[in-house]
Amino acid sequence: MYSELENLYAKCFPEKSQKWSANDFADLKKSGCDIIVGQNSFIVWRTAADEAEIISIGVTPDARRTGTASALLQIMENDVKQSGVKNIFLEVDAANIPAIGLYHKSGFQNIGTRPQYYDNGHDAIIMKKDI
Ligand SMILES: CC(C)(COP(=O)(O)OP(=O)(O)OC[C@H]1O[C@@H](n2cnc3c(N)ncnc32)[C@H](O)[C@@H]1OP(=O)(O)O)[C@@H](O)C(=O)NCCC(=O)NCCS
Repeated sequence: MYSELENLYAKCFPEKSQKWSANDFADLKKSGCDIIVGQNSFIVWRTAADEAEIISIGVTPDARRTGTASALLQIMENDVKQSGVKNIFLEVDAANIPAIGLYHKSGFQNIGTRPQYYDNGHDAIIMKKDI
């Protein structure tokens, strides 16, 4: 599963200089994160008490715009709801138009900004969804 995730990550984030390796994913799992991996997509999240945080989500370029990420978010939301989660948080690069569109369509709202948060100098938008 972890080498599959390494390959998916490289396809989904070709622009990143620091790509997540199989070991990075194994460490995330060991640290308590939940991971769903499909043929063309993955999602990683962490739950603490009644809050969950989306750590990463990706769909390979050939499979985009077919509702895959929306479906993953819905599966994740259903899962965390069953364990008592009330709010889901995430951070997204303010220049990532596809991801911002996805999150807004999935019911997330902007709640703050971290200026120049990323290595590329872009701001991070913090989003939240009450479930
Ligand atoms: C962001 C990403 C996960 C979206 O995956 P996806 O499976 O294509 O998303 P969906 O098909 O579920 O799209 C849901 C909605 O998101 C928005 N959206 C998705 N791609 C978009 C794009 N290129 N431009 C504008 N809006 C977009 C649309 O509102 C879309 O609904 P619509 O198709 O009915 O208009 C995908 O583009 C990706 O993997 N990008 C690279 C990795 C990444 O940036 N991950 C997020 C890090 S925070």
